[in-house]
Amino acid sequence: MTSFGVVCALCLAAVAAFRVHGAACSSCPVLECWFVQEVAGRGGGLTGSANQVRSLLHISTEPHSRPPRGPSDMDPERVFSITDPAGTLCHSALNPPSGSIKKPQCEMNRFQPQPSHLKWVATLTDSATSPAYLQADWFSVSNQGFNDQLIISSILRAPAASREPDVILSVTTKTVSVQARLGEPVLLDCSLWANPASPLSGSGFAVEWRYQFRGDGRLVLAYDGKTDYLVEAQGGGATLDFEGLHERGNASLILQEAKVHHSGMYICTAYLPYLVAQVTVQLEVVEPPSLAIYPSPVALAVPGQALTVQCEASGFAPLSLELSWTFRGADGKSRSLGSGSMTGHREAWDGTFSQSSRLELEAASMDLGKGGALGCVAAHLGGTQQTSVTLNVAGFNSPSIEDSMAMVGVALVLYGLIKFISWLFTFSGSAQDNDKDKKCK
Ligand SMILES: *[C@@H]1O[C@H](CO)[C@@H](O)[C@H](O)[C@H]1NC(C)=O
Repeated sequence: MTSFGVVCALCLAAVAAFRVHGAACSSCPVLECWFVQEVAGRGGGLTGSANQVRSLLHISTEPHSRPPRGPSDMDPERVFSITDPAGTLCHSALNPPSGSIKKPQCEMNRFQPQPSHLKWVATLTDSATSPAYLQADWFSVSNQGFNDQLIISSILRAPAASREPDVILSVTTKTVSVQARLGEPVLLDCSLWANPASPLSGSGFAVEWRYQFRGDGRLVLAYDGKTDYLVEAQGGGATLDFEGLHERGNASLILQEAKVHHSGMYICTAYLPYLVAQVTVQLEVVEPPSLAIYPSPVALAVPGQALTVQCEASGFAPLSLELSWTFRGADGKSRSLGSGSMTGHREAWDGTFSQSSRLELEAASMDLGKGGALGCVAAHLGGTQQTSVTLNVAGFNSPSIEDSMAMVGVALVLYGLIKFISWLFTFSGSAQDNDKDKKCK
């Protein structure tokens, strides 16, 4: 009874708190977040270990009228009221419908503002901006919406020990994972927002896109928005919408033509003087295979002839592929002939792959009747593809009218023959019986 009473009181308190608070913060969510704390290593070692504590982030687009309170079981030190004038953190993907299994993710870290020495960023801190402004509590918060809808990375500043930080810089992508067909133009979304109230936002920004694949990283392009200076990697083919970037913070990367070697992870990094935030986008270039069966059509002779047919899948990416064979006979029913034996793959100049399956055909043992359609099915990330060819089994043609007449003729002759032979046997049989009778007597 008492525990029920406590639970009920908590519910009521939560509802009441939500009502009061809900009015102040419109539709912005209260985010549950893991706050990562550096714990000093024991024994004076350099390696500190990190531990995570649960924290609550109350988001609002306007400064909170009074600091919100968390549940009574939570350390008030872990409750933050964040002002995000752009409302980026109010996105519905961070506030899933109650009861949804997939939860948005949030991680919060302490952040240390520092100048960057990268060529395209260093100009931002040429004229040192108010170091006094930097002396505050800085945090970085990274949010991932449920169902991979978006990733937001923000840099927050709070007057020392206030637990009421403002978002100063945020970077968002709405294309967390992109699939593109070969040769298509690709847009990797990234947008940045700098708090206009911050003294850091008037001193220019920089944007950098890097590519990462299996541990190898390279610069795709970097742009210094202060001096309008662009660094492009060799090979090119990637660009930004510079007007959109300056006007609306649209830092999306445009790849003119998707190539197989573009698959990988892309990192969009935004810089303000002393500040940096980044989001990642996964690109996979997916191209389904083209299929061909050789030989075509397939001709097979019925008594025991074996023939190897080959299904070749070409021009596909990524590599993973399954091929299988089907047969559809005169009854119209399709059945599997298995997967045959797969050959090794080859890589073409454009990075696409080709691979074949060989199948040994034998009319009698495989019950192919007089033939039908021989099919090859490819299961691939880009979709299931199939093709088929005509399969003729020679010596198993359906009888023509003349053939039927001839058969009737043959049957008649055979019938006569059988009758004659059986008459011969009964005659000689009875003669022998007579002989036996004579001997016995
Ligand atoms: C950003 O710019 C690209 C290229 O101009 C455009 O296709 C895209 O819709 C823009 N994104 C936003 C959010 O405006």
